[in-house]
Amino acid sequence: MIAQGISGLMRPLLRRLNASKIHFIHLCGVTEQHHAPAKRVSERGFGSTPKFQDAPGEQSSADKVTVHFINRDGERLTATAKEGESLLEVVVNQNLAIDGFGACEGTLACSTCHLIFDKNTYQKLGAISDEELDMLDLAYGLTETSRLGCQVCIKKSMDGLTVRVPMDVSDIRRQLEVVKQSKQ
Ligand code: FES
Repeated sequence: MIAQGISGLMRPLLRRLNASKIHFIHLCGVTEQHHAPAKRVSERGFGSTPKFQDAPGEQSSADKVTVHFINRDGERLTATAKEGESLLEVVVNQNLAIDGFGACEGTLACSTCHLIFDKNTYQKLGAISDEELDMLDLAYGLTETSRLGCQVCIKKSMDGLTVRVPMDVSDIRRQLEVVKQSKQ
């Protein structure tokens, strides 16, 4: 039983490590190659995500989209997002106070960017990848309308969107650390 639990935790990470040293990360219509070794991800601190660079090109105010986040304590955080940004980029670039959000910087290695959508909006979101599903499996408080914020991109039609931050946050990298320490 314990072995099964550990194997469940390790599965997504091992799959990613074995696949290739090159990580392809979907960022709102742009597929970027990251050559950084996986070790760098595991060494990152929790909740220390630096700001993302502005997307190239000027954005007019017509491209702005208002997004609301309902934080764990029920507080509503409102942000003005640019079309094409991921929800992770919105949180980071606007310094929204969501504790621990986006710990792996969108490399699909933590599930701390878990967000819950209303059913209507959820059905209109883009396709979900196997890698995102793997990470969602490890998220706390998973719902039928859960997605990872680093994989959901802002569209103009999302103006006025409200998403909920789950009560609990799970960082798979911490769980793996605990498993490793318990073996020593
Ligand atoms: Fe880590 Fe999205 S920021 S999975």
